Amino acid sequence: MIRKYKFGRPFETGAVTAPMEAVQGKPPYGEIWCGDKVPACEEKRPAGAFSYRYVLHDEDIVYGLGEANRGINKRGYQYVSDCTDQPYHTEDKRSLYGAHNFIVISGRETFGLFFDYPSRMTFDIGYEQTERMTVSCERADLYLYVIEGDSAYDVVKQFRKIIGRSYIPPKFAFGFGQSRWGYRTKEDFRHVADGYRSNRIPLDMIYMDIDYMQDYKDFTVNEGEYPDFAAFVAEMKERGIRLIPIIDAGVKVEEGYPVYEEGVRGGYFCKREDGSEFTAVVWPGETHFPDFLNEKAARWFGDLYRGLTDQGIEGFWNDMNEPAIFYSQEGVRELQQVISSCQEMEHGMEDVRRIQEKAGSLANAGADYKRFYHAVNGQMIRHDQVHNLYGYHMTKAAAEAFGRIAPNRRLLLFSRASYIGMHRYGGIWTGDNHSWWSHLLLNLKMLPSLNMCGFLYVGADLGGFGADATRELLLRWLAFGVFTPLMRDHAALGTRDQEAYRFGDTEAFRGIIETRYRLLPYLYSEYLKAAYTDDMYCRPLAFVYPEDDFARGVEDQLIIGDEIMIAPVYTEHAKGRYVYLPEEMRFVKLKKDNYYIEETLEPGHHYVEVAVDEVPLFIRAGKCIPLVDAAQCVEEIDRQTMKWIGFEGASYERYDDDGVHADSRVRRTVDSM
Ligand code: GLC
Repeated sequence: MIRKYKFGRPFETGAVTAPMEAVQGKPPYGEIWCGDKVPACEEKRPAGAFSYRYVLHDEDIVYGLGEANRGINKRGYQYVSDCTDQPYHTEDKRSLYGAHNFIVISGRETFGLFFDYPSRMTFDIGYEQTERMTVSCERADLYLYVIEGDSAYDVVKQFRKIIGRSYIPPKFAFGFGQSRWGYRTKEDFRHVADGYRSNRIPLDMIYMDIDYMQDYKDFTVNEGEYPDFAAFVAEMKERGIRLIPIIDAGVKVEEGYPVYEEGVRGGYFCKREDGSEFTAVVWPGETHFPDFLNEKAARWFGDLYRGLTDQGIEGFWNDMNEPAIFYSQEGVRELQQVISSCQEMEHGMEDVRRIQEKAGSLANAGADYKRFYHAVNGQMIRHDQVHNLYGYHMTKAAAEAFGRIAPNRRLLLFSRASYIGMHRYGGIWTGDNHSWWSHLLLNLKMLPSLNMCGFLYVGADLGGFGADATRELLLRWLAFGVFTPLMRDHAALGTRDQEAYRFGDTEAFRGIIETRYRLLPYLYSEYLKAAYTDDMYCRPLAFVYPEDDFARGVEDQLIIGDEIMIAPVYTEHAKGRYVYLPEEMRFVKLKKDNYYIEETLEPGHHYVEVAVDEVPLFIRAGKCIPLVDAAQCVEEIDRQTMKWIGFEGASYERYDDDGVHADSRVRRTVDSM
């Protein structure tokens, strides 16, 4: 049962696709304060603000918020939905790149809430006061959806039904991808391809970061380096490798650059109040931001992807689309003023602190987001009021254009910034994490929350983006990444080389990445099932074993599809780990050369040994999964080698399709052990 409530004059975000009338009256749970009726205890809140309050009970768990920090259970902290270019995902961070305002309260009462509001929103989930949950925002202009269900899982499934089907990428996108900020020349890319192929480590994609472009200009390639880009794309494809270029949100300001000139001519960039184009500095230097919320501008920008698809490109990653701002012209002027007012250094350290503070606050400044506007249906809307929709609309613009450019073909597409609704158009990667063990665990915890919000094609930078990875960390992270739909190793400029063949012996890496391909028929099948039935690909244990009190609290194991549970090793020097089995399971370890072992384990707690070259998984009672021989790329997987592992007598319904076309018919085959 879902009820929709309307407050003020909401912006139509397009998050919900199911037609629904708003109902009158008070929502059944919690209390709402909005407009001028601000309670005395909330004096800090300006009139006109909105706040939703609910009293949490001891046993309540709060799920959701998609790409957010900390645990699967969101209780005990404060989160802010405010798409942010945040390269340090330390525990204290409240905002990351996505804004996913869906939560589920599961305990004494069970219900879900979706706050469809495109600007900054705060979720205090028992942080200021342990038993109080407050969701608030500055303007009482939003839709609130209240979802009642039998369980948290049921609430999620109902929510997923109203937000539309999740994006399904082409099948090759389920292979392994290598990325690094710094690959620039053809030789750089060939070197990576050689490194993988000569070591027989499977690979399907190499990602092109900003250095493939000419001066970081979108939809260009470095002219000296790629005089015949199409031939280079074809050369790689010949080797079973797709090149996946990055596209940034900001368009370089440069006379003679056609994208810039067309954008100005068409009036497609975001403007200041006085009608001039807003300018901010990002990678290319001064840039303008396309107005993705304006239909004409979105169509124009989307069609530009054709320049690359015409040369054989079949996938993209959209970046810097919060949008990230290093600084604006206005911001720099303000900094100059602060510096000149401190010229005499009369106040010593105090002056230094003021300058430092101003300089440190130039990037992604809230003030900048108030300096430019979107033209939506003839109305000028200040960016900060719809900030969380920017990356979503960039990705939507691309996906809709793909429908025109390559009708019926599935292209790979994922984005950094997002809002619920974008899950229909592409996936996401979770941005600039670090080569820290804690970020392996954070990756695991985020996954089911993202699925709750519709984002199925997701993954983190395996091995960590910032800082230097170690062999052990990368191996353990890859062993977890085997199960994430987007499986990509990516690293920042200046960090240690992190490709799977860079750590001396390559055997262990080959074995782990091969495992991804051996499990691919299962992983792909479970992905298709989740997408077609608006379900989760990956669930917390609590959703599968709701009656099991211990399982309800588990935050370092997941259920992948319906058949398997995973319990990755995420601590350094560990020889194995403790794992909780809510039911009897078959413990399987896979490694190189199509090797595996199986052992049946009773329900309860176990310590399992897992070497760094092994991928562990647990097949649930009475179930089985298909396993094929490893291959060098997805297209080479030989389904004739398929065998079954798990429980005798079990059967499995496998989904498959051609992996290429949007309207490809899903084939279902039932096999038994
Ligand atoms: C951003 C992206 C990162 C990319 C870098 C350079 O930091 O998050 O993935 O490598 O920009 O383009």
